[in-house]
Amino acid sequence: MAGGTVLVVDDEEKMCEFLQLVLAQDGHQVVCASSGERALEEIRSGDDIDVIVTDLMMPGIGGMEVLEEAKRSLPDTPVVVITGYSTVQNAVEAMKAGAFDYLPKPFKVDEVRLVVKKALERREIALENRRLRRELQSIRERSSDIIGASEKMQAVFRLVEKVARTDATVLIRGESGTGKDLIAREIHRQSLRAAKPFVSINCAALPETLLESELFGHARGAFTGAVSTKRGLFEEAEGGTVFLDEIGDVSLALQAKLLRFLQSKEYIRVGETSVRRVDVRVIVATNKDLEEAIERGDFRRDLYYRLNVITVHLPPLRERREDIPLLAKHFARKYAASLLKGPITFSPEAMAALTAYDWPGNVRELENAVERAVVLAEGNELSLEDFPEEIARKVAERSAEGAAGGTTVTVDAIDGLKFDEAVASYKRELIARALEKAGGVQARAAEILGLKRTTLNEMMKRLGMTGGGARRRPDANILDG
Ligand SMILES: Nc1ncnc2c1ncn2[C@@H]1O[C@H](COP(=O)(O)OP(=O)(O)OP(=O)(O)O)[C@@H](O)[C@H]1O
Ligand SMILES: [Mg+2]
Repeated sequence: MAGGTVLVVDDEEKMCEFLQLVLAQDGHQVVCASSGERALEEIRSGDDIDVIVTDLMMPGIGGMEVLEEAKRSLPDTPVVVITGYSTVQNAVEAMKAGAFDYLPKPFKVDEVRLVVKKALERREIALENRRLRRELQSIRERSSDIIGASEKMQAVFRLVEKVARTDATVLIRGESGTGKDLIAREIHRQSLRAAKPFVSINCAALPETLLESELFGHARGAFTGAVSTKRGLFEEAEGGTVFLDEIGDVSLALQAKLLRFLQSKEYIRVGETSVRRVDVRVIVATNKDLEEAIERGDFRRDLYYRLNVITVHLPPLRERREDIPLLAKHFARKYAASLLKGPITFSPEAMAALTAYDWPGNVRELENAVERAVVLAEGNELSLEDFPEEIARKVAERSAEGAAGGTTVTVDAIDGLKFDEAVASYKRELIARALEKAGGVQARAAEILGLKRTTLNEMMKRLGMTGGGARRRPDANILDG
């Protein structure tokens, strides 16, 4: 960091000039501030300052205040204070307040050069540390386990592993909140491009012309507002992966340009004529019915074929209910940790309800529900009341259908036993609670539940709850995977 920027703060013009001269010789950029006030402006300006050398004694805002502001606004920038003769106490205070070092006046040229050099080294270490921490954090985030024990998700993972090794364009499909974003990142993470950028853009969020210039870049003056030349996302992702989310929302005109790009990796910036090339892998996602869009004439068939080389289908959560408890626990851990709460568990009936619920918003909805519950819950166990009312309501409705002897086969029941188990477990818990409230008297419990006594009795038999009001723990193991 020989070329580091040093801010020199001194009300004595001579001193400023002297330091500027000395430090410039060592290849540093020197910025002078002739007062504490000026120094604060510089510090707050947002410009990079690598080291600050400030006099302590100045009229108005003094060196201590400069030091404090630097600690606040530029925590990684070391501050060296210049102290007058015989003011050891000041030096001690400055060091306590976080100064990197002090220079007692008068000092020699070499002393100041050395202390600035050391301060720059310190800064470099601090920045490196920060960078490593960030990297570690992003590794943690990136490997933030994608959960999925269900056969359907296992199949997805196997496919992801295979396609990650290729450069093929991948189309990710699935309802909203099923994890399309997550899978796109995962493909990049497992690919040879992992060390290069992953750039993602939501095609539905921008109007057509803006989207084109975002993707391909534009020349200066290409349109109103294009005040300078801009590189596009494809260029920014050079060597890496571009993720085009909501590809189903791209206009036909831009679809043609995308198709050309996918075929040749060549493109033209908006407002330019020269052809550019870039090496990127493209992953796209949509929750739209592309086939239907083709029929309607809203989506180009040739682009569709081009994109549809490898398709990853993310199943909705209701088609892989065995993942629900795992996901719920995963999110509970995640949010408990971020809220500094202890380990969080789910009451059996809460877990049963979560498992039985249809989750139209899929994993995102589940994640939000668990986050909210973790925030709201008083203790360490999440109960049904901690979740949105509709979750309990849906389950209760189903349970009532079951009690009425309805024979409607729901889509969920087709999924296998899990759903029935969940509902049964939930019913047992409800009944057990009612019995507890009713002091074990079945007739009263039936009243509490709004059921006929005979219905309750029959239900209990079916559920294997022997009469007499003994509270049997619902079989939580099924769901406690
Ligand atoms: N299998 C999974 N394991 C862990 N977390 C998941 C999983 N699937 C999704 N999530 C989480 O659920 C949330 C929604 O996922 P994501 O944004 O990838 O969905 P999406 O399909 O892109 O949704 P949309 O169509 O709305 O853009 C994210 O916070 C994501 O981390
Ligand atoms: Mg998404």
